[in-house]
Amino acid sequence: MKESAYIQWDSSYSIGNRIIDRQHQVIIDCINELYAIFIADKDSASLQPICQRLKQYTKAHFVFEERMLSACQYPDLEQHKKIHEQMRLQTDAYLRCGEIDDHEAARKIFKFLKSWWLNHILGEDMAYAAYLHQAENLNQPLALQQK
Ligand SMILES: [Fe+2]
Ligand SMILES: [Fe+2]
Repeated sequence: MKESAYIQWDSSYSIGNRIIDRQHQVIIDCINELYAIFIADKDSASLQPICQRLKQYTKAHFVFEERMLSACQYPDLEQHKKIHEQMRLQTDAYLRCGEIDDHEAARKIFKFLKSWWLNHILGEDMAYAAYLHQAENLNQPLALQQK
């Protein structure tokens, strides 16, 4: 991990599940990569591939996490889904072509991405960790690969 990364991964962000932690790290890496390109003052064309990747990965992570929470019968799943859906729409809107070109707007977007993800991982995601561990301890297959 580079010292200069916009968001530094910290072991306190771990929810104790290897796959989910890895996915959260990939999202943080995408935000860091986007920020690095932005800071380097590249044109908007160079931001587009990583914008696309972050949007797609965010969506894929939410789908994966919701499937997993459903498999371990997490009681607050519906609320968690609503939070994800709001963020998915917000991410799509913020990372639309051109938005991040404007420096003032871009700074707000980066601040939002950073605080949303750290608050969500440490808040709502951490809240399901106990259910996940319980399900794992009971040796229930979580059917993670099912579509
Ligand atoms: Fe989540
Ligand atoms: Fe998550």
